[in-house]
Amino acid sequence: MEQGFDVEEIRRDFPILQTKTRNGKPLVYLDSAATSQKPVQVIGKIEEYYRNYNANIHRGLYEISVRSTDEYTGSKEKVARLINGGSYRNIIYCRNTTEAINLVALSWADQNISQDDIVLTTQMEHHSNIVPWQMLAKKKKARVEYAGLSKPNLSIDMEDYKEKLEHGPKLVAFSHVSNVLGTINDAKEMARLAHKHGAVVLVDGAQAVPHMKVDMKDIGADFYAFSSHKMLGPAGIGVLYGKEPLLEGTDPVIGGGDMIRSVRFDSCTWNELPWKFEAGTPNIEGGIGLGAAVDYIEKVGIERIRRHEIAMTKYALSGFEEMEGVEIYGERLEKVNESNKAGVISFNIKGVHPHDVASIFDSEGVAIRAGHHCAMPLVTQVIGEPAVARMSFYLYNTESDVDKAAEAVAKVKRMLKRG
Ligand code: ALA
Repeated sequence: MEQGFDVEEIRRDFPILQTKTRNGKPLVYLDSAATSQKPVQVIGKIEEYYRNYNANIHRGLYEISVRSTDEYTGSKEKVARLINGGSYRNIIYCRNTTEAINLVALSWADQNISQDDIVLTTQMEHHSNIVPWQMLAKKKKARVEYAGLSKPNLSIDMEDYKEKLEHGPKLVAFSHVSNVLGTINDAKEMARLAHKHGAVVLVDGAQAVPHMKVDMKDIGADFYAFSSHKMLGPAGIGVLYGKEPLLEGTDPVIGGGDMIRSVRFDSCTWNELPWKFEAGTPNIEGGIGLGAAVDYIEKVGIERIRRHEIAMTKYALSGFEEMEGVEIYGERLEKVNESNKAGVISFNIKGVHPHDVASIFDSEGVAIRAGHHCAMPLVTQVIGEPAVARMSFYLYNTESDVDKAAEAVAKVKRMLKRG
């Protein structure tokens, strides 16, 4: 146990980790890259809102509406503080990372990208950082280019990235942390290089913000997207951080209540930031729940969470790399360090479909994800497999969870008589 980081104490905050699966096995949850579990502090905060001050925001001049407005806006201040991202004015709430990226595609990019312009992304992206650009390119007759990956560790090939920047992209969009490989990209350096070439920078931070210190002023990205549900908060709420001049200079794309300052029969004017991008009644309990999740992360300490996860990752790699017939994708243990690998490990067991691997893990109570992980080009075209199995860690995982996963690998081999 790391000093000041008592995993058993943390686990007591997560009711689901006390449950058993249908065949009586204690739940071993190794799928936090898909979604995280929620502590009682977050669950309780949402209940508190519904029990005590459920009211629409920005509309009522009565006590409980003032309270819900304060809690909702206050949660944005917490999010801004967590990422050193200015104030609530920089924080736009939407449904998730996907919607945050699409919001940029449909607003800033739609208003600034024209025929023959280039959007540069990478070969390690989630579909949410590929498909919106393909859709935009189709509409505008623009082009999407992809920075390649170096083999065998599958990190971004910086020489290729620099070469593609020479093509003069208008927008550069890349993930901070790969949801398949756990690779941490040097977002600050990538943003610096992109800015040098005059591009606007969007970072998909879905797998970064929950797990490591992320600092908007340091990274310098123009837009940065992430989701509440992967960082101990409720689902259905995500964040688009944006620099104020860019947000100010961009027209909203969804019109309706709350996003306007004034409306006449012949015209209207926009509300101030961030509300001009949040038409209609928002996900109030989602925002308030996310604020509670930020409180929880800050109470534990994001640096401590990161240290715990890197220790877990090294422990898992040290066991899994030794297993016969197990192939691991991404950085190898000997090269893993504080700045290049998050708690995500994808692997395959020779001759066994990853869906069968995940099913046998499930029979042991071990929850992992298998498939293309919404990164089909990376998995099928770069790794060259139809699917991979993936385990991913968070602050509540223990070495014993990894041991259970290792036992499940042994069971796969026994059952399928391989390796
Ligand atoms: N993007 C999530 C994952 O990687 C859903 O599992």
